[in-house]
Amino acid sequence: MCGIVGYIGHEKAKEILLRGLEKLEYRGYDSAGIATREDKDVTVTKAKGRIAELRKAADNDIDGSAGIGHTRWATHGVPSYENSHPHQSSSERYTLVHNGVIENYEELRDTYIPDVAFVSETDTEVIVQLVEYFANQGMTTEAAFTKVVSLLHGSYALGLLDREDKDTIYVAKNKSPLLVGIGDNFNVIASDALAMIQVTSEYKELKDQEVVLVQRDQVVIKDLAGNVVERDSYTAEIDASDAEKGVYAHYMLKEIHEQPAAMRRIIQSYQDEQGNLNIDPEIVKDVQSADRIYIIAAGTSYHAGLVGKEYLEKWAGVPTEVHVSSEFVYNMPLLSERPLFIYISQSGETADSRAVLVETTKLGHRSLTITNVAGSTLSREADHTLLLHAGPEIAVASTKAYTAQIAVLSILAQVVAAERGRETNVDLLPELAKVTAAIETIVDDAPKMEQIATDFLETTRNAFFIGRAADYNVSLEGALKLKEISYIQAEGFAGGELKHGTIALIEEGTPVVALATQEHVNLSIRGNVKEVVARGAHPCIISMEGLEKDGDTYVIPHVHELLTPLVSVVALQLISYYAALHRDLDVDKPRNLAKSVTVE
Ligand code: F6R
Repeated sequence: MCGIVGYIGHEKAKEILLRGLEKLEYRGYDSAGIATREDKDVTVTKAKGRIAELRKAADNDIDGSAGIGHTRWATHGVPSYENSHPHQSSSERYTLVHNGVIENYEELRDTYIPDVAFVSETDTEVIVQLVEYFANQGMTTEAAFTKVVSLLHGSYALGLLDREDKDTIYVAKNKSPLLVGIGDNFNVIASDALAMIQVTSEYKELKDQEVVLVQRDQVVIKDLAGNVVERDSYTAEIDASDAEKGVYAHYMLKEIHEQPAAMRRIIQSYQDEQGNLNIDPEIVKDVQSADRIYIIAAGTSYHAGLVGKEYLEKWAGVPTEVHVSSEFVYNMPLLSERPLFIYISQSGETADSRAVLVETTKLGHRSLTITNVAGSTLSREADHTLLLHAGPEIAVASTKAYTAQIAVLSILAQVVAAERGRETNVDLLPELAKVTAAIETIVDDAPKMEQIATDFLETTRNAFFIGRAADYNVSLEGALKLKEISYIQAEGFAGGELKHGTIALIEEGTPVVALATQEHVNLSIRGNVKEVVARGAHPCIISMEGLEKDGDTYVIPHVHELLTPLVSVVALQLISYYAALHRDLDVDKPRNLAKSVTVE
């Protein structure tokens, strides 16, 4: 979702900004723009569509060693040239990029600037016009910007240029992510470190409602009262090459292939020197003292939470509920006496999940974030963090983060079980090593998955995924993966649930992907397959060694029954990938979707 970059230094800003925006493309956007400041001029270049269009539009002699850039994912107003950022004040003195949603923009417009003519439909334009309004009242730019920040309700990350001041980018944030990158004789701003990792790996976090003056040789952070705040920088542990596609046609394919390596990193990161599973004892203590765990997440991370619940209940013995964050925030269930909240989020920036964290923190409840991004908002604001160690995930469709989330949850549950003296009959490390090998086998079988995509999904408009027990959870994720990148309407169901309604949709040739990796429900799921076949369905059965039957479409290697989601999902990820590829779709950037959903 919207991304921001900014640069102030001695090089030409244009190319640095465009490259930064290219690195933010993965977040999802529908238009983009940059503004650079040269002498006393600010030049704004914008384009609807991809950064490639912006590059074409910016193919001129734009100079300037300071600038801001933006990718926009439309919220207020359609994707268009007028609505794309940067936006300017009426006199064009001020130029602004904004990520987030301003809730009181109409009220602010009507109160302070009812007579100003707006050129866009965006909430953002109100901010830049307000800065000009207060500057016209005699305030310095810093004072005007601070005043406006204090008036805004909602989420925002802001970068502002002043035509009259060649030395500063004015910056502030609230709820939306924004970092300041520290360079040698230059400084940058970025929605995430990945965007600017090519130029610096040193970053400073910003807190909500701080006003920051980013200059060539210094970064001054102030609170709203004008007090200077000292903040150390940290080194972002991202290898710039992790953010490249390398030999792969798409990031999604690369990330599917990276899953064995991610599993190995997780196994290594959560082991102590004696080779035992190891989780921060403070986290284990918090899980131990909880009478109920509430997992809060969205989309694929929610699906990972459903699998994690199995481990936390069956191994650790802690009652666990899993909730969609956007629902939980408006419809909180009756909570137990000593709840622990676990936030699962690849990006660590999902606004819906963050909204729940803000509420549960206010209520005084302990929290743990499981995320791929160190220093992300959910990580900073929760009591504890467990990192996924999966490396940057760029494709919009989440793959390696899902398996990493499940693996980390399995380790957490096992450590808690051991601490509680609960016998689980699972030696997790060797089991995870088997899982890693099984994922490798499936990745090597990619040509078979491509054939399955051709055989079952080439021309269909819809598809169903069914499973029971652990397979049901994976069927939900399989359906999400397929629909989001191939636009085939796909739904996941508990095997027994189809005949309570959805079986009415089965017609001659309807693809039904059935997962059959669970011994205790193997007969039942196969019975469900017979029911849909009797109504004309085209069944694609994915089973597991030891449970396979003649005619199964693909058989995954044998792993522990509760760990099968880590393996069967890889087959579904590849099938979805090839289904989208054969439809000639933009696999990494599916329509309407954003990688990092930073608005509620
Ligand atoms: C689907 C997908 C989304 C995310 C969801 C939550 O492939 O990626 O469903 O899982 O938007 O995002 P995070 O995990 O960043 O909180």
